[in-house]
Parts: sequence; structure tokens; C-alpha cells
Amino acid sequence: MNFYILTLFPDMVRQGLSTSIIGRAAERGLISVEAVDIRDYTKDRHRKVDDYPYGGGAGMLMQAQPVYDAWKSVADKLGRKPRTVYLTPQGGVFTQQKAKELAAEEELVLLCGHYEGIDERVLEEIVTDYVSIGDYVLTGGELAAMVVADAVSRMVPGVLTNGESGMTESFEGELLEYPQYSRPEEWMGKRVPEVLLSGNQKKIKEWRLWQSEERTKRRRPDLYQKYKKLQTCREAFMKQKLLHMDMIELITRGQAGLVYAEGNNICLKQPETGFYFLTAEDREGGARMLDALADAGEEMEIVVLHQEFMVEPTRERYGLQGVMPCAQAVYTRKEKLPIRGLYRADGGYEEGKPQIRRLDENDLDTAARYYAETDSAIEKTRAYLKERMEKGWLFGAFLGEELAGFVGMHAEGSIGMLTVLPEYRRKGIGKALETYAVNALLEHGYTPYGQVKQGNEASLRLQEALGLCVAKQMVYWLEKN
Ligand code: ADE
Repeated sequence: MNFYILTLFPDMVRQGLSTSIIGRAAERGLISVEAVDIRDYTKDRHRKVDDYPYGGGAGMLMQAQPVYDAWKSVADKLGRKPRTVYLTPQGGVFTQQKAKELAAEEELVLLCGHYEGIDERVLEEIVTDYVSIGDYVLTGGELAAMVVADAVSRMVPGVLTNGESGMTESFEGELLEYPQYSRPEEWMGKRVPEVLLSGNQKKIKEWRLWQSEERTKRRRPDLYQKYKKLQTCREAFMKQKLLHMDMIELITRGQAGLVYAEGNNICLKQPETGFYFLTAEDREGGARMLDALADAGEEMEIVVLHQEFMVEPTRERYGLQGVMPCAQAVYTRKEKLPIRGLYRADGGYEEGKPQIRRLDENDLDTAARYYAETDSAIEKTRAYLKERMEKGWLFGAFLGEELAGFVGMHAEGSIGMLTVLPEYRRKGIGKALETYAVNALLEHGYTPYGQVKQGNEASLRLQEALGLCVAKQMVYWLEKN
């Protein structure tokens, strides 16, 4: 991630982003921060960059020309128009979700305003996102830009080391973090809560959840409301757990936006992908839900339905084309799958067995060629696999240096993309890869599940052989084009 920060105070942002985790990430080449001094681009003899607003009013405005030329110096260097965020109290409020979204860019321009703002015409020309860091007014955009750069950087893969990455989860769920304690056991007469000294992990987990709930209820009633609503949805899903595991996992992993809920008629949206997930009690309930979604202006391009009777009405209303029925297979146990005889846990070499590790850039062309359904889809497939790889969710099986197959986790959270190259089939590589993926998801505290396209009997047999439970009803993927 390369940040270009357009500012009148370059030293301030350079200093602010040069220490601690962010400074270290820059030293390691994971991010870069370039402060571009807007004043260097003024054409004024006195290096002036501001002037009075037309129509009168208090204060001065930053003029269009120096801002534009500073921005253009970056755009010219990159050879394209970069995503450009203007920090302003008039923007949408910055959230963890937005940080994640911005972290997917290769570069970001952060534009810091001063005085009473910036001439509207240049904003119209260059800004793609208006972002506020909260409902208060700062003296300039620099602190806001640093906040955004910090939060975005820690979402860039590799910036947080293992010890730090536990923190990534803390705001992704709907609850605030529980209280934490370190040594000594007693300080100023206050003892560490007894349960934390008990060593009983189950009790500790329950206590922490309870504390999180209580804290959220008191400090952030707005978040708590959302949390309670999602819990009610989860209870509805649990009545058909296997069928709804995709929706349950969205909630558990903190990736569920609740769009509609009326009894067992529920629609979730995953903000990161824009995918919609719908489940309906009956035709009437489903129709009411589709009406409500249309009234709310929801534009669904990719939808996962959980009842066949929803397919036709959803297709008609949203002009969606393809229908892909899939059987959902869920690994319901908590223990990892045994790996003996499949591959070595330490990634080491064992005669005749694949080594399994994260895929890297060199393998992407091969992977895309085998995974793409048609030749014309190879480019798009490669981009998707690259995105999965960068998120750390694409694993390859190697025999020597040769890629024999791969597996990953899809953007919506299911295990998939399982592919074994033709010359390596019937050697247990599919089983090894699927096992690896199941165990990787368990390590993250996820419930592993996959979706098997109707007709793929080989995959279905593999899932069952590994002990995954297959839902009786299908889910249906609908897509524009
Ligand atoms: N500039 C001034 N105040 C700001 C805020 N709250 N968020 C982002 N940029 C700002």
C-alpha cells in the first residue's frame, strides 16, 4: 500500500507515521508514505495557496490550482487516476469496514484540507471518497489522514505480526472488547477477577462474552441493538443449521450486514463483497422480502438463495441470469482432521507426499488456467485468485517444485476452488488439500463449510469421507450475467 498525502504540513504526517507498527511496516516495504507538499505546486510568487471565498464569509479557502497540480503529479507518476480520499467533517464516517475496503487498493491519495476548506471545483475533479473521522471539527485534515493511514495499514497483510493480529478481530464483531488484566494479581486492593485465574477456558470464554455484552450495552447501545438483532437471526438459522451455515458464519465472523428481518424471512449483505444472502419461510414471506428490498433500492448483483421457490421471483425482479445449485457441506466438529499419511504439519518434505503452503505469485498463471471455466475467463479468474492469495487464503500442494493442486477460502467464507491438476489425480492430493483447508479454518475459530456444485459427485464423496455433513436442501447462486 502506497500512501500519497497531499498536505500543507508534510513534516507533521511524516513524523506521525514514522514510528511503531506503521513505521516498521514502512521499513519492511509493506507500505510507503509520501507526503506531497501542496505549497510546492503554487504558482503564486509569495507561495500563497489560499484566497477569499466568493460571496463572502469567514476565513480563507484553499485554491483549486495548487491542489490539482499536487494531485496530478501523483496521478502522472502512477499513470492513472488514483483513489483519492478527501478528509472532511462532511464525509461519511470512517469505520473498520471502510478501512478494509481501502486496504484493497494499491495506492491511496489522502487530501488534507485547511482553513475553511477547498475550492469545490477541484474536489469534483479528483475526489473519489469523502471521509470524516467523527462528528467534530479538527483544525486540518492531517490528523484525520494519519488516523485513516494507520487503520488502513494494519489491514494490509503482513503489517501485524502474529502477536498483534489478535487485535484484528476486536472490532469486526458487533461487540466491544472485554476488560483485560495483567500482573500483579492484586493492585491498589483490586483483585483480578477469579475466573481468569481458574485456567478453565470454557468459563473464561463465557465470562469474556458476558463482559463484552454488558460493556457494549452500557457504552454503545447502538452497537448492542445491532448485535441483538443478529443474534435473533442466528437463532432462526439454527433451526436449519446445515442449510444456513453460510449465513451463520457471516454473523460469527462479523461480516453480516442486516438488510431485512421479519421472522424467518431474512436478508444479510456481506459489505466486503456486496453479496446478498436470502432465506424465506414461504413464498408470501419471500415476496414481502423482495418487495421491501426493491423499495429500499437494494441492487442485488450476486445473491445466494436458500429455497428453490425463491429462484424464479428473484430472477424476474432483479434480471439475474445464471442459477447454480450447490449442496452445503459443513464440518460440525471442533477437533482438527487427522493429517497422518497426507502431508507434514511442519510443511516439511515426505517422500511421495505433497507439501502444502500458501500459494505465491509464480503459481497464479497455472492456477488460473486450471480453475477458469473458459479461456475467456482466465484473466478474471486470475485476479480473483490473486485477491484470495493476498488475503492469505489460497494454498497449494507441491510435489517438488511442481504445483499439483490448490484449495482456498472464497470471499464469502466457504472452502472452495479445490483443483487437482490432471496428472496428479488419484494420489490423495484432493483429500490432503481439503483437510488442510478445514484445519486452517478451524485454527481461525471458523466453522468450515463448502458448497459443492450440483453434479460434482467426486467432491461430494470427498466431503462425506472427511466427515462433513451435507444439507438436504440446496442453496442457489444467482448472478447478473
Ligand atoms: N478535517 C477537519 N475535521 C475533520 C474530521 N472530523 N474528519 C476528517 N477530516 C477533518
